[in-house]
Amino acid sequence: MRASAKGSSVSQPVKLESSTSLSQADLHAIALLTERVTELDGVRPLSEQVMLSLLSNTGTPTEHICAWQGARLVGYANLLRVNGADAASVEIAVDDQGRRLGAAGELLDQALRETSGYLQLWAHGYAATTAQLAESRGFIRVRELYRMRRPLTGDLNSGGLPKSIAIRPFDATRDTDDWLELNARAFVDLPDQGNWTRADLEARLNEDWFDPAGFLLAHEVQQDGSQGALVGFHWTKIHHHEHTSDAGNDNLGEVYVLGIDPQRQAQGLGRALTMAGLRYLQHQGLSEVMLHVESDNSAALATYERLGFTRFDKDTLYRSPVPARPSA
Ligand SMILES: CC(C)(COP(=O)(O)OP(=O)(O)OC[C@H]1O[C@@H](n2cnc3c(N)ncnc32)[C@H](O)[C@@H]1OP(=O)(O)O)[C@@H](O)C(=O)NCCC(=O)NCCS
Repeated sequence: MRASAKGSSVSQPVKLESSTSLSQADLHAIALLTERVTELDGVRPLSEQVMLSLLSNTGTPTEHICAWQGARLVGYANLLRVNGADAASVEIAVDDQGRRLGAAGELLDQALRETSGYLQLWAHGYAATTAQLAESRGFIRVRELYRMRRPLTGDLNSGGLPKSIAIRPFDATRDTDDWLELNARAFVDLPDQGNWTRADLEARLNEDWFDPAGFLLAHEVQQDGSQGALVGFHWTKIHHHEHTSDAGNDNLGEVYVLGIDPQRQAQGLGRALTMAGLRYLQHQGLSEVMLHVESDNSAALATYERLGFTRFDKDTLYRSPVPARPSA
């Protein structure tokens, strides 16, 4: 067991260990490392998807590369091999000691070796040290994800839903299939979200923060008043006492996932459902709300900017400079 950080010195070399599973002690060391890096940079080094894959089995083949200096974990790389994706995706966390020792570069080079160079790398935050690392290896920027926020103060009652649409909370016993189907159709251009499986959904439903009351479903109301098709959803999240620059405070809501049936888009539903979720978060006593949005998602950007959201940070996806994988 190597839970202790005692006894490590700057002169000891970094040793890399690759594996497809982790012990409880390793998981604990990664959690502590993640906290140290978040403290150092003011932004989480590992995405929610990676944190969830560490805590529960979402079925995505994962490789772990740990950088040890003696008994101290000074760096960690999480290598996800998403089915059907052209390249594996890596996220790297390295603490201050690991940075002095060049652990980030070693982890990235190891990930490149293990994927024959077909690798994507996420860098979180405007001032991401990972971004410098990516650029030092000639990686190319391929995608940006903005983080936006707005206060939850004032009157949020504008933008009501039409009478033909009713909102109610998600119910896992009857809504799971309909939601997965609509999520796949609404996010057909965003596979990270649109490819969610039942296991991906259930991992989130089992999280401590999950509250069905904040997962709003919008259904059509039929002539006889009964429930019709699911046409949209706004899943909100509340960050409780998390240390993250996403928050900047402990009182933060999130537009976690928002989707409208493609047949019903551009009819005002996205705006109305966003407002319904913001009202819910305001009623929970929250003072601010944030969200993530792709920099090229013009419909979502228009929706959020018109509702007063402004950009405050971004995540960047880089791709290694290898030619496209030859087709089989
Ligand atoms: C983004 C999304 C939720 C917006 O919902 P919507 O019902 O289509 O949008 P609305 O009709 O309510 O329009 C909201 C605003 O965006 C604008 N807008 C809508 N579609 C647009 C488009 N394709 N391009 C530019 N602006 C657009 C509207 O003009 C409106 O602005 P206005 O209030 O000034 O008139 C919806 O398009 C969607 O589900 N997209 C796929 C999933 C997704 O990307 N979700 C967001 C992830 S962050």
